[in-house]
Amino acid sequence: MNEIFYSTAAILFILSIHGLNSPKNAQKSNFIGIIGMIIALLTILAFIPINRLPIIMTSLLLGGTIGIISGRKVLMTALPQMVAVFNGLGGLAAVLLSLGEIILNPYHHLISTISVIIGSLTFSGSMVAFLKLQGCLKITSFRSQQIINFIFTIIMIALAIIFYLSQKNEFFWLLTIISFIVGILLVLPIGGADMPIIISILNAASGWAAAGIGFMLEQPLLIITGAIIGASGIMLAQVMTKAMNASLIEILFFTHNKKTNNTDSDKKEITHIGSPKDAAFIMENAENMIIIPGYGMAAAHAQYSLKEMTTILEKKYHVQVRFAIHPVAGRMPGHMNVLLAEADIPYDQIFEFEDINRDFGTADVVYIIGANDITNPKAKDDKSSPIYGMPVFDVSSAKTVFFVKRSLNTGYAGIDNPLFYADNTIMLFGDAKKITESIVKELAE
Ligand code: TAP
Repeated sequence: MNEIFYSTAAILFILSIHGLNSPKNAQKSNFIGIIGMIIALLTILAFIPINRLPIIMTSLLLGGTIGIISGRKVLMTALPQMVAVFNGLGGLAAVLLSLGEIILNPYHHLISTISVIIGSLTFSGSMVAFLKLQGCLKITSFRSQQIINFIFTIIMIALAIIFYLSQKNEFFWLLTIISFIVGILLVLPIGGADMPIIISILNAASGWAAAGIGFMLEQPLLIITGAIIGASGIMLAQVMTKAMNASLIEILFFTHNKKTNNTDSDKKEITHIGSPKDAAFIMENAENMIIIPGYGMAAAHAQYSLKEMTTILEKKYHVQVRFAIHPVAGRMPGHMNVLLAEADIPYDQIFEFEDINRDFGTADVVYIIGANDITNPKAKDDKSSPIYGMPVFDVSSAKTVFFVKRSLNTGYAGIDNPLFYADNTIMLFGDAKKITESIVKELAE
């Protein structure tokens, strides 16, 4: 009987994930996923022995309350950190369940050995990722790091084999500790443009760890959901590595060879600093305009004033306005799409990287609002740059380029942007929302 409910829940999860393909269906698909989860939870509760109910209900209430509070309180810009913590907790759950299985069963399955490794790596790696995204930890690389990583990885694999073959519990602890260390070592040197990819990989790892637990507990639903998370995390990481022109191996093992090079443009001077009035004048005389939103737009909550600006430009001045979305703009996959959808900006006005990058040459105005790295030409020209190889918008060919930001500060990757000093660039210094609101005011007059 419970198989029917589990299968229904699994089908709803798959339908939910499928529906998330398009922003139009996102809300409905989320709802389908919630129904699936309710069916799954009720089925579990209905079929477990009654004496286990108190501990399960307490855990559900505690976890659910923490989830609701953190979900409501978390800022959009801090979502990657939250995802990192959740991934880590998934990994820790796998380790604890493996521990339970190891204590209760005299025979240790290969799957519990693998779950210990994946779970420990995911937990410690996610915690390091969290600290980095929170700004508490910088990219850390040291001498002979690759060799040390390699040695620890070999020790971890050897211990896993010894633990499985000998079935001795003392090796479990050693294996857990070494796997924790490997997780830390792998994520420590990663940063800049590679951070979203590592978050996706850790997300996938937490999925595979959950699938492993599913096998241990003979829970088909956990196997299915774990596999969905595992597979989608890997696919997302692959899409992003492609978007950054890198490979997973390169990111995991060779990132720390990339160094920041700020020397060239540090000495240059900005050519033009403009005001909202100047911007409004140039915009209202344009035929077509492309807006590139980035992290700063999210931080300033400027999406609503952007919507106002586009509406007035289209309706009053007949300017064609389009939005260009970079796959890693902001701080999480789909960050910009979510915010623009929140402000009711029509989907047909929003274009993905490959669909719009060729059009900058014919654009009269490019309005770069709180974005930096995703436009930085160093990704193409400077081999020593941490973002080298990442595809970036070719904005320099547009007639006029506006950069809205508060200062000449760098973006996430920590590198200066030569475009700030270009002849066709006008810097609009200030908060993204305030500047856009002032432009709207000028346009409305
Ligand atoms: P960034 O390169 O990080 O640049 C954002 C710019 O916004 C900063 O230079 C900052 O300059 C400006 N800013 C911040 N607050 C602002 C405000 N209130 N008003 C106006 N400007 C503000 O952003 P991006 O171009 O979107 O690129 C994303 C970067 O994050 C990439 O390097 C990417 O690899 C990385 N990353 C992405 C993700 C995902 S999955 N999207 C996850 C983690 C990391 P000022 O301080 O001068 O204002």
